[in-house]
Amino acid sequence: MPKKIMLVFGTRPEAIKMCPLVRELQSREGIQTLVCVTGQHRQMLDSVLATFGVIPDYDLCLMREGQTLFDITSGILSAIRAVLEREKPDTVLVHGDTTTAFAASLACFYLHIPLAHVEAGLRTYDVHSPYPEEFNRRAISLIADMHFTPTETTRANLIAEGIAEERICLVGNTVIDALRTTVRADYTHPVLEWARGSRLVLLTAHRRESIGAPLHRILSAVRRVVDTHPAVKLVYPVHPNPSVRQIAEESIGSCDRIRMMPPFDVLDFHNFLARSSLILTDSGGIQEEATALGKPTLVLRDKTERPEGAMAGVLRLVGTSEGAVYDNFTRLLDDRAAYDAMAKASNPYGDGHACQRIADRIESNEIPMGAPHLRASII
Ligand code: UD1
Ligand code: UDP
Repeated sequence: MPKKIMLVFGTRPEAIKMCPLVRELQSREGIQTLVCVTGQHRQMLDSVLATFGVIPDYDLCLMREGQTLFDITSGILSAIRAVLEREKPDTVLVHGDTTTAFAASLACFYLHIPLAHVEAGLRTYDVHSPYPEEFNRRAISLIADMHFTPTETTRANLIAEGIAEERICLVGNTVIDALRTTVRADYTHPVLEWARGSRLVLLTAHRRESIGAPLHRILSAVRRVVDTHPAVKLVYPVHPNPSVRQIAEESIGSCDRIRMMPPFDVLDFHNFLARSSLILTDSGGIQEEATALGKPTLVLRDKTERPEGAMAGVLRLVGTSEGAVYDNFTRLLDDRAAYDAMAKASNPYGDGHACQRIADRIESNEIPMGAPHLRASII
């Protein structure tokens, strides 16, 4: 009997990091792969599913405009129960730190379904930053039976928290697997043509804790820097969250060297990353991608759970004060030596074979899963 493995995800970053794993698991004879998407995101999720050719078996279709954490958490808990009870998967795989991952994990806990956590062990140890992701990832670690960690640091975090070594498997980050399939030498795009001959800067910002004054400060600094550096052209794919879009429109206004755009498809975004001179972001996944591509990156946050990129010298944590963003951005544009010192590709997030390792481990039957006596009584 093949093992029944269900992957649950719902947002863009989870999809980018789980779709390569779906494809890998589908190629294994000993595994029956099921995909359940919560639809916490809609357009951004669908675009990734289409890029990787993944068709979900279940779609909970939960996204609402301006949804709250209550909406997402309660919506998932209510809707996923029937799916889990019907399918009775041998193991559920969740990813990272979104509310989808947390609520799906909680549902597995309530139903005594074995849970494996992909991209486990990331920590800032400040439960308010990033919010609510640091809480989500720590709560998932409490529940998970198996922890697939991306780096030595994340593995060490889990061991320090008392998680048994045999339940931790260091595999690398599946985002590097995704990057290997998306970046292409012959890629073209009209916006790249528009930026030809300029220094291309890529900006993203969406974190809940930045919405409001921090995002205004960031964008005000960015606008001032672009206004005083005629060689720069900046591309800003704006997150569809209405609160983010409103601040973006208020703060950036009209500037012919800034292109505000809808979110890029992942294939486009990865190719823009690979052709950018530098990056400004509060994203988690982009910190990993930028490190692998050796793109100097200013991290618009106070804390990061991804210290590896900073240790490699590619990422600099600058926070959200207008002065710090302005000064660091200006320096990277004006000081060649400072720029060159950060522009070094490195591989702390893996070699692009994380999915293979996860699938091997799942197929091997070596995963020490949960409390079997409880499972037998419920399912
Ligand atoms: C979520 C995750 C965050 C992750 C981010 C990636 C939580 C609590 N947050 O935050 O960890 O970094 O995704 O982008 O899980 N929207 C659309 N279309 C889409 C997606 C979103 O219109 O395809 C709009 C909707 O109005 C939605 C809002 O954006 O209500 C916010 O989406 P939500 O998933 O709640 O929060 P994110 O900030 O995207
Ligand atoms: N990304 C994308 N299109 C965009 C911006 C980002 O496909 O316009 C990708 C990016 O390559 C990365 C992921 O989205 O893999 C990061 O998602 P996000 O910043 O929304 O979430 P986080 O990683 O912070 O949770």
